[in-house]
Amino acid sequence: MPRYGTVQREKYKTLKNVFDLFTEKNLNKLISQGFFEGLESPLSIGKEANIFTAVAEGETRVVKIYRLQTCDFNKMFDYIRADPRYVDVRNNRRDVIFSWAHREYRNLLKAREAGVRVPTPLALLKNIVVMEFIGDDMAAQKLKDDVPEDKEEFLKEIVHQMKLLFKAGMVHGDLSGFNILNHDQKPVFIDMSQSTTLENPNALDYLKRDIRNVCVLFRKFGVKCDEESILKKITGK
Ligand SMILES: Nc1ncnc2c1ncn2[C@@H]1O[C@H](COP(=O)(O)OP(=O)(O)OP(=O)(O)O)[C@@H](O)[C@H]1O
Ligand SMILES: [Mg+2]
Repeated sequence: MPRYGTVQREKYKTLKNVFDLFTEKNLNKLISQGFFEGLESPLSIGKEANIFTAVAEGETRVVKIYRLQTCDFNKMFDYIRADPRYVDVRNNRRDVIFSWAHREYRNLLKAREAGVRVPTPLALLKNIVVMEFIGDDMAAQKLKDDVPEDKEEFLKEIVHQMKLLFKAGMVHGDLSGFNILNHDQKPVFIDMSQSTTLENPNALDYLKRDIRNVCVLFRKFGVKCDEESILKKITGK
């Protein structure tokens, strides 16, 4: 069984064999540049990306590989061109996917600089993002699967992180129990490829949706969650 992953070794083997040549070449480039020594275990096979752990200098890292073939790139194109930073992205599969990976890297960096708890981004090459591993011996669990000990406090901390992000001019855009990890009873936001700046005409709607998703989860946990007052706290209005 893999050390960290939740996907069986067999699936990993199959996947490894189907990396396209382009991705394999870029993985090797990152290896030769010293970002990691090789892929270790699969952590997740998502809609658009495959995520692996890798080891470098004795520490674990995460390698997120956006798939070039099986992603919904038309939807990605619609999303990304609403972001003022990517209005010029061309409507072809590769450009859209590279911009998507680029946006995740850039957003993680910006969030990190603003003091938001996110994985530190370490490298970007085409459709591949290398980042800090969140966890200890095991990967931190998704919030939906790891109910916090102090739920009220955890929710407060999420709102605080959202506010830091907003102050830095950004909204996450896909916040939910899937994209918040519970690491040592503190939230860590992940999956920021769809995060956008406040100049995006949809930014406020994304923020409201993020708040709604967080509240839906915390209500399930039995915590009162008032969307209006959270919105006010975050925006200061
Ligand atoms: N830096 C990290 N440290 C630990 N675990 C991670 C990290 N990044 C991702 N994971 C794990 O992998 C899962 C999927 O990651 P993520 O949400 O970034 O991609 P995704 O939702 O599959 O991507 P997509 O946006 O393409 O659908 C997470 O829910 C989490 O369990
Ligand atoms: Mg996700």
